[in-house]
Amino acid sequence: MTQESTRVPSLLERMSLQEKIGQLNQLPGPEDRQLEIIRAGGVGSFVLNRRAGGDPASPISVSVEFLNRAQRTAVEESRLGIPILIGRDVIHGFRTVFPIPLGQAATWDPGAVGAAARLAASEARAHSIHWTFTPMLDICRDGRWGRIAEGFGEDPWLCSRLAEAAVRAYRERARGEGVACCAKHFAAYGAAEGGRDYNSAEISERSLHDIYLPPFHAAVAAGVDTIMSAFNNLNGLPTAANPKLLRETLREQWGFTGLVVSDWNALNELLNHGVARDQAEAAALAAKAGVDIDMIAGAFAANLAQLVAKGALSESVIDEAAARVLRLKEGLGLFDQPYAKALASPQAPAAKGRELARRMAADSIVLLKNAGDILPLSPSRDAIAVTGPLASAKDELLGTWAPDGWGEDVVRVIDGIRSKLGPKVQLIDGGVSNWISISQARQAGVVVAVLGEHPLRSGEAGAVSDIGLPPGQLEILRSLASAGVSLIAVVISGRPLAIKEVLELADAVLYVFHPGIEGGNAIADVLFGDAEPGGRLPVTLPRSVGQIPIYYAYHRTGRPPEPALRDCSQYLDEDWRPLREFGFGLSYTRFEYSDLKLERSRVEIRDGSPIRLSVKVTNVGDRAGSEVVQIYVSDLHASLVRPVKELKGFEKVRLEAGRSRTLSFEVAPADLAFFNGRELVTEPGEFKLLVGPDSCGELSARVELI
Ligand code: GLC
Repeated sequence: MTQESTRVPSLLERMSLQEKIGQLNQLPGPEDRQLEIIRAGGVGSFVLNRRAGGDPASPISVSVEFLNRAQRTAVEESRLGIPILIGRDVIHGFRTVFPIPLGQAATWDPGAVGAAARLAASEARAHSIHWTFTPMLDICRDGRWGRIAEGFGEDPWLCSRLAEAAVRAYRERARGEGVACCAKHFAAYGAAEGGRDYNSAEISERSLHDIYLPPFHAAVAAGVDTIMSAFNNLNGLPTAANPKLLRETLREQWGFTGLVVSDWNALNELLNHGVARDQAEAAALAAKAGVDIDMIAGAFAANLAQLVAKGALSESVIDEAAARVLRLKEGLGLFDQPYAKALASPQAPAAKGRELARRMAADSIVLLKNAGDILPLSPSRDAIAVTGPLASAKDELLGTWAPDGWGEDVVRVIDGIRSKLGPKVQLIDGGVSNWISISQARQAGVVVAVLGEHPLRSGEAGAVSDIGLPPGQLEILRSLASAGVSLIAVVISGRPLAIKEVLELADAVLYVFHPGIEGGNAIADVLFGDAEPGGRLPVTLPRSVGQIPIYYAYHRTGRPPEPALRDCSQYLDEDWRPLREFGFGLSYTRFEYSDLKLERSRVEIRDGSPIRLSVKVTNVGDRAGSEVVQIYVSDLHASLVRPVKELKGFEKVRLEAGRSRTLSFEVAPADLAFFNGRELVTEPGEFKLLVGPDSCGELSARVELI
């Protein structure tokens, strides 16, 4: 038997009930005043959700020396020397801050998402963080919900592929390096009613299985270390007290062997939900449902021993949970290497990391409009004006949840643009007010207006009832548009904003999800053509908030929208279609699709062989560019109403001008399964394949599954 396989069982045998419960207790911290409870074995892990130790005025958010001291108390002064686990929300980068996850999704590049996760993990572990609460896999189709910023968008297929990439990257860690990852928030947190955070999720079993669960299943299949249960109640049962989710689906059906941590104080919130009379009942419900670690509620620490003593909870439940915690610590090498190397000084983002962040940010930028091919701009023009509330922003570009990012690391948009201009170019900027005058605009001839929202208008508890630009910005854009200049709008946000009028007023529009420390350089690279706008929308852009929920994979209706008809599924006061479709994004070149070929027009479900198709893509423009070739499938006839189409494949390809490439795809019959009320099933019948640059598709073919 290896030492590894004996350590946990032998430790468990030596642990008292209280010490086992201590491993299930997670506190906010660590802080000086907690060294005693660490010494007593009363806490197994910490969630470091703000500055830790060190001088509050210091820019260092995480003091390695302090965390080592807390660890030393656990390893050298507690009875069994079990190391503590330090968790932190390293959501989109530690010190090297990348685009927010919604922006990472806009790259449609699993490789890039994996590379960002790898770098974040290495920087975090160097700062003695052992566990990150990412990736966030909540599908969301409602831009009012602020946390749409932290997820990978509206589509289960795209989100699942990016989940796999992130989890595999975190799992590549060598012993003593890297961090454990956590798929959250399980489940359907993004279906919050009204887009209001923490609100109920009332969805059908079909939607749960076809839309909200697949990314978590993909993460489990990729080996995710931990799962975080969500705050919301799902169809009436809070997820922290939901054995159907946490035991039946997660463990019995999916074979998940990692640990489940509740979200912040969620056990005590079972009383607010009205499903627990007191904290003891909440602790019992959560332990029986399958929560292993209680994040900061103190409910396990205060109640589990008594619940066992009075026979209301089996000690075996606690043993299983404690074993999962110990195995995670062992897998991270914490028993052998519990301490991080002291860091002499704050580790500024390395050049390589900056380069990755810059490339990823450019690749996340979505070109929504480019009238007259006004972009890319020439750097050798006479003058250019840069204006708008985010033109000189620093911290805002870090996006939501970058507690270890430094504003001073951020390249501002104005600085990025300035670095592109030749010596003769006059740069007119809005200065402190950030807004230029009409005469300045006319003097420049070209105006770049950098608009959008502060990250505090998205992220956790960042729900808004109106998804237009923040007050005042549109009015100023209107006046700039009336100046008769070439107007380029750069809209920076954490969500899909309703920017219909911006698209009418501006000649070109770049859509940027908070881009991270290299945002200014990336935006300038795209504006001047040193990088292409590589992004494609991971969420549907609505015309107005009244269209929400709006998404491309909507279910068929008995009266599909018809322009000329009134009696159909449409609005009297607004075009029912989105402003821009899921998957949309213009390039600086043009691509043509041809030669869509199917290997066979009939495919047998039973033998599991996939639908094989190929398509030729040609760059017919005059410059190199990338294209995200997307495959959608429409189930034309089924026992239940199906979505009009669903993404089932994509590949990002870069082609020199004039070059072609034939891409091949496989769609397995299992990928076409849907939940029929009892199980996931792939039904025989006719399917339509759509291939193209976005969810509208360009070429189509039919295939029959038999
Ligand atoms: C928060 C979030 C969760 C985060 C946790 C720890 O409230 O819902 O995403 O990981 O608490 O900070």
